[in-house]
Parts: sequence; structure tokens; C-alpha cells
Amino acid sequence: MNVDADRRSPPCVLVIFGASGDLTARKLLPALERLAGYGALPPEVALVGVARTPMTDAEFGNLCRRSVTSDDNHRWEEFAAAARYVAGDYDDPATYQRLADVLAECDHRHGTAGNRVHYFATPPRLFGPIAMSLGKAGLSAPVGGGFVRAVVEKPFGWDEISARELYADLSSAFVEEQIFRIDHYLAKETVQNLLALRFANSVFEPIWNRTWVDNVQITVAETLGVGERGGFYESTGAMRDIVQNHVLQVLSLFLMEPPTSFHAEAIRDEKVKLLRAIQPLDAEAEIAANAVRGQYTRGGTREDLMPGYRDEPGVDPLSATETFVAMKLEVQNWRWTGVPIYVRTGKRLPARLTEVAMEFRRPPQLPLFPGTAEGLDPDALVVRVQPDEGLSLRFGAKVPGHAFRVQKASMDFSYESFDEQSPDAYERVILDALIGDPTLFIRADEVARSWRIVDPVMRFWAGDERPIPLYQAASWGPSEAGALIARDGRTWRHSSRR
Ligand SMILES: NC(=O)c1ccc[n+]([C@@H]2O[C@H](COP(=O)([O-])OP(=O)(O)OC[C@H]3O[C@@H](n4cnc5c(N)ncnc54)[C@H](OP(=O)(O)O)[C@@H]3O)[C@@H](O)[C@H]2O)c1
Repeated sequence: MNVDADRRSPPCVLVIFGASGDLTARKLLPALERLAGYGALPPEVALVGVARTPMTDAEFGNLCRRSVTSDDNHRWEEFAAAARYVAGDYDDPATYQRLADVLAECDHRHGTAGNRVHYFATPPRLFGPIAMSLGKAGLSAPVGGGFVRAVVEKPFGWDEISARELYADLSSAFVEEQIFRIDHYLAKETVQNLLALRFANSVFEPIWNRTWVDNVQITVAETLGVGERGGFYESTGAMRDIVQNHVLQVLSLFLMEPPTSFHAEAIRDEKVKLLRAIQPLDAEAEIAANAVRGQYTRGGTREDLMPGYRDEPGVDPLSATETFVAMKLEVQNWRWTGVPIYVRTGKRLPARLTEVAMEFRRPPQLPLFPGTAEGLDPDALVVRVQPDEGLSLRFGAKVPGHAFRVQKASMDFSYESFDEQSPDAYERVILDALIGDPTLFIRADEVARSWRIVDPVMRFWAGDERPIPLYQAASWGPSEAGALIARDGRTWRHSSRR
């Protein structure tokens, strides 16, 4: 893949906190290796790892090499060989003093010009303390016209209050323009294609409203269970892990008003306006009627029997953590009032898929096709985010023959039809952060509004003494989720290709 000249990092040092961790080894270093291979990391870009694990520069360099599969990437070799490492506690001022010395050496050796991107790849409770320590050490303020940025991984808080506290901690050292909050979903090619689909074509926009659209369904389905991450998941759950960030981000891009430009702030303004138009479910009766949680139990086939959530390692045998969420939301604005937005996510569902589907109103004269058309699924436009990234338009077509029978057909577009490869989401976010393009990062007001939408539901569930609804592994969630949508005379889409 060739990189445009303006898609090349400016001189800077990328500092990774949590450099000994899983995210660094599995995602960040492989993404950097690919960027180096494309020529996106010129010699004026350097890497510094920070973590408590004792390591020398050479050992960190070896970690960089071990984390990637390629062995013929000359620039990566050079990059890994020059990588520096600072070992120390994240709350010890001496760590930051050593880091300052190493950064000064990088400026001298690589011409990194005082520019820094601090990447927080540590457990989330360290984000605030690291930011404050960087501030106290004078490492958060840009010098001499350069830049300093902080890249923060999700979760952005645990609820509305902790998100506000995290914001205060980050803001003690960085101004909002310096903070890049990652939702790697936004960096997926298909999610960005939502913008192209809507605003680079004139055919879709006229039908993108309550006059034509019957309902919208967003599904983020995983076949895997929590596996080894039970301990983490116990205090997270599906609402925090998926709905508060990925689902609401995709939803806002899909349904927002056209931005006045493709400038980052114009797009983020429209996203936050859309989130503000979603009325949070507040009253208990309203939450009980429109939000469903669930937890998987043992299920599958005799050959492939999957354990229940409570049997997973690190999970409380009496756990009430939700592994499934379904909600009905409404966007109360001129374009969408009255169109239900159904969202659904879960672990141990029958398929791994993420899709956004818009189902259109049925034609007014179904009796023209007696006996066939009424049972048909509605026409639908489906954006498949993963796997098999692409787009499908479902519509009714006549079955060949003497009888006038209508059957659903579909026009499919797959990203595989392009010769170019989609960059990996982490390649995209790292390069955007180095370049300073915040379009695909989440602004503080979006985070706050997302918590405002999910918080009342989580509080209600925390106080709800009824047992959590259960569903068998490899099924589409608890029966309550089916009832939620059936009440409106609709059904969930059950496969990405319907
Ligand atoms: N892993 C993923 O695939 C993934 C995906 C999306 C988002 N994230 C987010 O990315 C961040 C990093 O994830 P990760 O999976 O890489 O985390 P991790 O491996 O658990 O932790 C990263 C590093 O932080 C340090 N650390 C861990 N526990 C600590 C503690 N109690 N006190 C001080 N330091 C501690 C460890 O380094 P030292 O002991 O050497 O200091 C560890 O190598 C998290 O915020 C996570 O939510 C991860």
C-alpha cells in the first residue's frame, strides 16, 4: 500500500505507556511495523516504551521484533533498533524525569523537534495519574510551535461520574484538542464508508429519513464467550464494553445530519447533536419496557458444547453481569422522530457480525401480489462492518415462471472488489494521531452524552432484584429481546445476508 505524502507522520516521538502489555504486542507494534513498511514513519519518528517491567533498550527492541511476523522490513528493523525504553512506576516522578531525558536525546538524535504523542496503553485506572504526572513533569505542554498529544484507549470512565473525573484528570495536563480518544471501530473502513455512502451519492440521501425508513437495526454479535477475560468482563458487561462506545458511535455516524464540511469538528458536531437527540430512557417503566439484558448459559451442540458465563474462569458463580443487551431507542429530531432504532449486542450468539441495517417501509399495495408479498421481509439497506465488509440492498424480485411470485433478492458490494487493501484499524488510528487528524477520535462531549444515554439503564439493572434473563450459548439472546421488537410487529434480522 502506498501512503500519500500527507499521510506520513511528521517528526515526533511516540511514547507508549504500558509497553510491556497485550495491546502493545498484539496491536500497536504490528500496526507500526506495517506503517514503517508503507513509508509512513520517516527516520524522524522514534519510539519510546514506558512500563514497570525491567527491560533494556535492546530487550524492548527485541520485543518489537518478536511482535511482528515480517522479517524483511528494513525501516522497521531500523525503527526497532533505535527504540528506547524507560522502566519505572507510573506514579513515580523519577520515571518522568528519565523519560524527559530520553525524549531530549531522541530530539537530538532523530530530529523529533520536541513533538510527542503519548499513547496510554495501560489499564484505564492509570490514565488519569499518567496524564497528571506528565503535566507535573512539564511533558504535556507543546514547546516552540510543536505538538504534544495524548492518545487514550477506551473505556473512557465507568459511568457518567467517573468519566467526568477522568476528563478532569486529563484536562489538568492537556487541553481537549490534544486528547485523542480511540474507538477503533471508527477506524474500520466500512464505518468510514458510511460517510461516502451517505454524502458522496445523491441516491441515498433523499430516502434517509422517517418518510421512507421503517426502522433501523444495529447488531454487534460475537460468537466467542469471555474466555480468559472473565475477571475484566465481570466489572464491565456488554453495555460498557460495546454499547456505550461502538454502538453509539456507529449509530451517530449513520443517522447524523450532513456536516457542513468534512473537517473533524464539523463531523463531531453533527455526531454529538445526534446523540443529544436520543432521549435517555429515564423512568423505570420506560427502561423495563425498552431495554433487555441477558447472560449466556451452557449451550451449543453435543460436539461443540460451550460453557455458560458463570462457568468461565474469573467469573462469580452468581454473577448478574450482562453479556447481552438489546434496546429500543428513538432519535427525536426532524429527520428521525417515530423511527425505532433497535440495537443489540451479545457474546455467544450464533454468528460473528456487525451490521447496520435500515429497513424501509412496505409498499402501500401489497395485495397486488396476493399470497406472496405480505410474508416478505422488508426492503433493506445493510452495511456490513464485519466480517465480509460491504453493502447489500435487499429488494423484491419476481420469481421466473407463469405465476407472479415475489422473492427477496439482493445487490451486494464487497470491499474485496477493490484491489487496494483496507488498512488495519490500529494502523489508521496511530497514523491519524501522529498526523493530528482527530476526525475518527471521540470528543469529550460525545463521551459525556453517551454515558448519559446508558447510565440510567445500568443503574436500573444494578438495583433490579429480578434474576437476569438467560439465553443458551449459540442462540440470539433471551426471549425478552424477541418480545421487545415483536411488540412493535417487527423481527430482528438474524443474519448479515438476509
Ligand atoms: N488488549 C486489547 O486487545 C485491547 C483492545 C482494546 C482496548 N484495550 C485497552 O488498552 C489498554 C491496555 O490494554 P492491555 O490489554 O494491553 O492491558 P494490560 O496488558 O493488562 O496492561 C498493560 C500494561 O500495563 C501495566 N499494568 C498492568 N496492570 C497494572 C497495574 N495494576 N498497575 C500498574 N501497571 C499495570 C503492565 O505493564 P508493567 O507491569 O510492565 O508496568 C502491562 O503490561 C486498556 O485500557 C484496555 O482497555 C485493549
